[in-house]
Amino acid sequence: MNSIADTSGATPVATARELRPIKLACRNVWKVFGHDAQPFIETRDGRASAEDISKAGLVGAVRAVDLEIRQGEIFIIMGLSGSGKSTLVRCMSRLIEPTFGKVEFEGKDLLKISDAELIELRRHRMGMVFQNFALLPHLNVLENIAFPLSIQGMGRAEREKRAREVIELVGLNGREHFYPRELSGGQQQRVGIARSLATKPEIWFLDEPFSALDPLIRREMQDELMRLQSVLNKTIVFITHDFDEAIRLADRVAIMKDGEVIQIGTPEELVIHPATDYVAEFTRDVQRAKVVSARSLMRPPTGADHGGSVAPGARISSFASQIVTSGKPFAVVDADGLMLGEVTPDAVIGLLAGIDNEEAGHGAARV
Ligand SMILES: Nc1ncnc2c1ncn2[C@@H]1O[C@H](COP(=O)(O)OP(=O)(O)OP(=O)(O)O)[C@@H](O)[C@H]1O
Ligand SMILES: [Mg+2]
Repeated sequence: MNSIADTSGATPVATARELRPIKLACRNVWKVFGHDAQPFIETRDGRASAEDISKAGLVGAVRAVDLEIRQGEIFIIMGLSGSGKSTLVRCMSRLIEPTFGKVEFEGKDLLKISDAELIELRRHRMGMVFQNFALLPHLNVLENIAFPLSIQGMGRAEREKRAREVIELVGLNGREHFYPRELSGGQQQRVGIARSLATKPEIWFLDEPFSALDPLIRREMQDELMRLQSVLNKTIVFITHDFDEAIRLADRVAIMKDGEVIQIGTPEELVIHPATDYVAEFTRDVQRAKVVSARSLMRPPTGADHGGSVAPGARISSFASQIVTSGKPFAVVDADGLMLGEVTPDAVIGLLAGIDNEEAGHGAARV
C-alpha cells in the first residue's frame, strides 16, 4: 500500500496553534480619518455604520476589527486596495494611534504603555518591512542593515557581526559593500528584510514585502521566508494581494473589505466556505486541489479495498495522480494509525474538474 506523507502540515499546525499563547490581539479597533473622528466614534461607543461615517465626511479606514494572532503564527491580511490593510497593521504596531479600541501585545494594552516602553518594544521586539520601504542611499548594504542596531545603541563590532549573520540568512553574501543603487529590486527588498530581521523581532510586520518582485524571485523569497520561519519561529503578520502567496505561507488569512475584517480562516476554510461573494472572488482562481485536504474530501470508510493511504492534512494535489491511476479509494489515516475515512478517485476527479463534492455523489466537503 502506498503511503503518502502529510506535506501540508495543516492539521498539526491548526491544533498546535490553539494551544499557543496569544501574541497580539485587536479588540474592536477603529481607525477613522477626518475632523473630530475620535469623539465621533467615542460617543457611539465604538459602533458606527459605514453610512454614518461617510455621512459625517470621515474615512473609516479600519472598522471594528477583532482578531487574535498566536505565537509563531503566519497571519496574512488580504483585501482590495484601500480596504485598510496597511492602516490596520500600523495600528497593530502603534505606528499610528487607533481612534478607538484596544491592541494587546502579550495581553498588555499597547495604547496604555508609556512612550519609553513603546520605544523599547518597537526597537527590540517588533520588526517592520513597509510597502514602500526606503533604504538609505548613502549607506551600503552592511551599513543599511546595521543601522537599526546603532539606534539600539549596539557597538560597531557587534552590530557588524549581527548584520553579517542576517546577510547570510537572506543570501546577500558578497554584496555587503554595494550601495542600494547597485542592487536589483529584489536584492534591495532582501536588504529591507535583513534590516528588519537584524533586531531579532519577536513579531514581524511585513506589508507586501514581495510585491515588487517578478514571479520567480517572488517564489524564491517565499521559500526563503518559510525557511527563515522554520528556523526563527516568529509571529508574522503579512499583507499580500496574492492568494497563491497566502496559500503557500499562511496559517490563517483575514480578508478585509472597506475597513472591516469579513472572514478569518485557513486558506482551505476560505476556499471551501467563503463567508461572502467578496471572499469567494479572492479564491476564485485558486486550484482547489492545492488547498483542499484529504480530510475535507473524505467519506466514512466503506470497507472497500484501498489503493493507498494518506494523512488527513495531505492536499489532494499531492496524491491526485496516484489515486486516479490506482482507481481505488485511499484510506485517510491519522498519526496514530486510526482510519478516519476514505477518499475516492471520483471525488478527486470531481474536485479537479471543479465539480462540488455533493454533485460528484460524495459527502459534503467539511473543514
Ligand atoms: N493618513 C490618512 N488620511 C486619510 N485617509 C487615509 C490615510 N491613510 C489611509 N487613508 C485611507 O484609508 C483607507 C485604507 O488605506 P490603506 O492604506 O490602509 O489601504 P490598503 O488596504 O493598505 O491598500 P493598498 O492595497 O492599496 O496598499 C483608504 O481609503 C485611504 O485613502
Ligand atoms: Mg497598503
